[in-house]
Amino acid sequence: MTQSKKDSGSIDLTGGPVWHLRALSRRRRLWKPFRDEIESWLSDWSIRSRELLLVGPSAGWCLPEQYLRNFSVIHAIDPDPLAALLFRFVHPRAHLGEWIRGDFFVEGDNFLHRHASSAVLFCNMLGQRRYVNRDVALVEEEMRMVKMQLRGRNWASFHDLVSGDGIAEQPVKELKTTLDQASILSSLDLSGEWLDHLTSDVFPRTVSRKIIPWQFARGRLHLVEAGFVNA
Ligand SMILES: C[S@@+](CC[C@H](N)C(=O)[O-])C[C@H]1O[C@@H](n2cnc3c(N)ncnc32)[C@H](O)[C@@H]1O
Repeated sequence: MTQSKKDSGSIDLTGGPVWHLRALSRRRRLWKPFRDEIESWLSDWSIRSRELLLVGPSAGWCLPEQYLRNFSVIHAIDPDPLAALLFRFVHPRAHLGEWIRGDFFVEGDNFLHRHASSAVLFCNMLGQRRYVNRDVALVEEEMRMVKMQLRGRNWASFHDLVSGDGIAEQPVKELKTTLDQASILSSLDLSGEWLDHLTSDVFPRTVSRKIIPWQFARGRLHLVEAGFVNA
């Protein structure tokens, strides 16, 4: 696959060697509570499909091995050239099918079409889009379009909602519908400056969701929104 200079530079902000090194050093300790919450959330996703399509899984550093093994085949799309190799290393027992090194926003439609009976899991990649594409209005539009693109499918996503300075000491928050970011932050007693990851409109408004705190680095907190949309 060809890759433009702009694209390969932006991988470092959302994946690539820096991400892998961070993940390798943090996943067992600092990220363990977050990974446990993702595992527990995924165990509540009731779907019949035995095929799963992962969007932006990287090496699956935060994905639960046991959960992945439930699927007879897993397809994936990720632009990171190291992701497929490292995923096989981290999850040797997952049954990988087609893996494409590509951009979901360019190749997603064809890929979804080829695997029409797969459930789809966005693996903490939608909130990174703003690092790649600096046009805020365009990114917000892309986020709104995801639910249209996935209409009629079982799909789920966990993605950064906001990030900023903080310590992950809040409980997981359960929401029945969309709630604006200011209300979420104040309900968790968080103040200060927060980066909006432009993902507030990913889910239809009435979808129940969890807000999961993720201690990404010492002193750096991400609030991750996680939800399912079943057809
Ligand atoms: C934060 S990492 C995901 C980490 C993953 N949840 C894990 O457990 O390791 C974000 C991933 O999304 C991928 N990504 C970014 N933009 C993408 C796009 N447009 N299409 C597909 N994958 C993308 C990056 O290459 C990176 O591997």
